[in-house]
Amino acid sequence: MTVVSNDLEVSERLTVAVVGRSGQLSRTLIEHLALLGHAVVVIARPDADLGDSGSIIRAITRTRPDIVVNAAAYTAVDRAEDEPAAARAVNATGAEAIAVASASICIPIIHISTDYVFDGRIRSPYREVDATGPLNVYGATKLEGELLVAAANPRHVILRTAWLCSPYGHNFVKTMLRLAASGKELKIVGDQYGTPTFATDLADAVCAVAATVVKSQPGGDVFGVFHAVSGGQATWYEFAKAIMSGSEVRGGPHVPVRAIDTSDYPTRALRPSHSVLDTSKLRSVFGVSLEPWHASLATCLDAVLVPQAAVSAGREPRVRRALK
Ligand SMILES: NC(=O)c1ccc[n+]([C@@H]2O[C@H](COP(=O)([O-])OP(=O)(O)OC[C@H]3O[C@@H](n4cnc5c(N)ncnc54)[C@H](OP(=O)(O)O)[C@@H]3O)[C@@H](O)[C@H]2O)c1
Repeated sequence: MTVVSNDLEVSERLTVAVVGRSGQLSRTLIEHLALLGHAVVVIARPDADLGDSGSIIRAITRTRPDIVVNAAAYTAVDRAEDEPAAARAVNATGAEAIAVASASICIPIIHISTDYVFDGRIRSPYREVDATGPLNVYGATKLEGELLVAAANPRHVILRTAWLCSPYGHNFVKTMLRLAASGKELKIVGDQYGTPTFATDLADAVCAVAATVVKSQPGGDVFGVFHAVSGGQATWYEFAKAIMSGSEVRGGPHVPVRAIDTSDYPTRALRPSHSVLDTSKLRSVFGVSLEPWHASLATCLDAVLVPQAAVSAGREPRVRRALK
């Protein structure tokens, strides 16, 4: 389970602005925060568009929350190669607008970033201090966003996550289940290593981090870049195999999976062949570590495949459990 050493106290009710409404993380986070009793202000389209910095700054400064979480992004990795300006407007200058607004009202920002800021050449888990080198437009715009957020608000926490999945939206788990329904063997890349991460675990981590940083002044070790991914690692092939096994035991669609090389599956955007992230800094500073991905995959599959289990993206927040 997610370890929360600095438990959120019941009396600490925050007003949290979440940027994004229907995305995997934004939707899960909104649910978790509400279940924890926090007031949630959703900053989202059409009123607040990250492509229009003025609309974002107005929405945040008018609301005056205790903290803002940017869970929104342009996440279409391949399409970004053909739409770099659109990706940059959301992931870089849009993120900067949130940081500018939060700094202007003296509140911290939690901003979500990606493992795709790395080029994959380091074969051990990447640490926060390792050199970045994005291979694609999406990663480059997310890296620029990190730098702009950090420059605009010293009270920033940048959480790099990876391979995000949930019962909501578009993600690898749902794509594999949809493809399996066709009955054909799946050919899945077996030479890219990363960490499947589940939105419900990341939302838990965000809640725990928020509870700490609202009380922290600039300059403390709670601010900066942190890696926030589930425990373990996998190739896309191994992940697909686990999805098929989990689906089979739940009576869902399942087909054989064959490993192929990246070169057999060319995509518009290059991806790092290794983007496993070291999460020890998040654990040592905040006392937070995310579930092993296998465990959270089971919860996700329950929510997707077992109708009666589909409650709040699979389960209630871990932080809430810690409060009981
Ligand atoms: N998905 C992954 O595999 C993955 C991997 C690594 C890192 N991440 C990072 O994790 C975070 C959450 O990703 P996710 O998978 O939850 O994303 P997602 O499901 O693709 O949702 C994207 C969110 O961004 C919002 N958004 C997009 N363009 C916007 C704009 N112009 N103005 C305002 N809002 C806009 C969407 O708004 P609406 O609510 O209006 O639709 C939606 O809420 C992002 O920072 C992403 O870069 C994701």
